[in-house]
Amino acid sequence: MLNTMYTPLQVSVSKGCTLIIEGPSKAKIKSGEVEIFGAIFKRGAEVEIDPHKALPLYCLKKSTIEVFNGKVSLIASDTIPNDWRDLVGKISLKKGNCTKIIVLGGLDVGKTGLITFLANKFFLKGLKIGVIDADVGQSDIGPPTTIGLGVIEKPIASLNQARLIDAVFIGSTSPSGLLHRVFAAILQLLHIAITREKCDVILIDTTGWITGRGRDFKIFKITTIHPDYIIGIQRRDELEPILKWAEKNYQVYRIEAARHVKARSRDERRSIREYIYKRWFSGAIVKEIDFNKVTTIGTIILTGSQIPQTCFEYLSKLMDATVIYGEKSSDTLLLIVNEDKSINENVKNKLAKIFNVKQVYIHTKSLFRNLIVAFQSKERFLDDLGIIVDVDFKSQKFKVLTKANFNDNVIMYFGQLKINVDTFKEEDWIRLSSI
Ligand SMILES: Nc1ncnc2c1ncn2[C@@H]1O[C@H](COP(=O)(O)OP(=O)(O)OP(=O)(O)O)[C@@H](O)[C@H]1O
Ligand SMILES: [Mg+2]
Repeated sequence: MLNTMYTPLQVSVSKGCTLIIEGPSKAKIKSGEVEIFGAIFKRGAEVEIDPHKALPLYCLKKSTIEVFNGKVSLIASDTIPNDWRDLVGKISLKKGNCTKIIVLGGLDVGKTGLITFLANKFFLKGLKIGVIDADVGQSDIGPPTTIGLGVIEKPIASLNQARLIDAVFIGSTSPSGLLHRVFAAILQLLHIAITREKCDVILIDTTGWITGRGRDFKIFKITTIHPDYIIGIQRRDELEPILKWAEKNYQVYRIEAARHVKARSRDERRSIREYIYKRWFSGAIVKEIDFNKVTTIGTIILTGSQIPQTCFEYLSKLMDATVIYGEKSSDTLLLIVNEDKSINENVKNKLAKIFNVKQVYIHTKSLFRNLIVAFQSKERFLDDLGIIVDVDFKSQKFKVLTKANFNDNVIMYFGQLKINVDTFKEEDWIRLSSI
């Protein structure tokens, strides 16, 4: 049933039934009592449902629910599988012990739903719960392109209600090619969760990448985390190549995928990210950052010494393109030119000889336009995200859309993804080695 009317839809649901609401939507409990992923909501409570997501409201009593927009469907039972409820009793936890639990599974099997359920159930036992969201594409804690650590401070309907403690920028919405960053990020956040936040339980959510190279990735993720429990959710036997190995060293629980999980297409996943970027950047303004006040990582720009402007005329003649900026480090030459034209290999070889470098990169300044970046400080791995709007090579300034507050010594971490600053749609990916 689709409710697009301005007046909310009043739905009366019997005890023991589940109302599934698809976002974007908002729901208010008018009477009765519902359970959402293990958290109980009573009369007056409101929940929001993001686009392309679905929330199951299981009615513990006969309830009346007011639904604003969204699509609703009624299931005559509990959509939380018995397996999930049984797990709560099987996992032994102790205050001050820091139990690590990783949830694995393919796409859309209910990994995040199960983590939310366990987080609520364990929170209600009076334990401090940390959640590491290691899914860079479909992040609920921290924005896409990051791995986030959140703590649970109240029963939650969705993981994005966890309080964000910190996040580590990965630079892309896929871990592919950036596995070293993912492993480092997980270790960095585990350290914070254990030593600073003193979590009793750390739940680790993962991507649905479990086939091909994804298998190896998951196995090494497990050895990096060294979890106390591994929960594998599978439709058939797709996780077995990982679980057969894992159960030799760890406590493994196998769980069947939940039946009423809402699957999302690639486009829907992209559109969820677009929605999150829009929300994340709301209130952001374009700020200028001087080249001499920033240290960069994830890029070659600003990692070498600038080539004097007096050389530009000679270089422009040699390349038949107008050079506006140049930098040289021990092994690399970076030149920025005005025109978008390909420079012949012979010229590049000649430049490599003149500057005594191994690699020569020649780019136009548009390469950096719309590139996602992150700001770091001593205090936090992620101060905030930014999107490069423009680079003025003449006055040597970056113009970046961000909410971050800089001091004079900011670290700017270059990502590999381009996001349109007007629409917040993802536009393009660029390779790490080329920037
Ligand atoms: N037991 C359940 N009953 C009803 N809806 C559910 C249940 N579990 C998850 N969902 C819903 O189904 C959708 C997909 O579930 P979820 O996000 O948990 O899957 P996932 O395996 O984490 O997906 P991804 O591979 O994208 O990370 C979500 O909108 C979620 O709220
Ligand atoms: Mg998920």
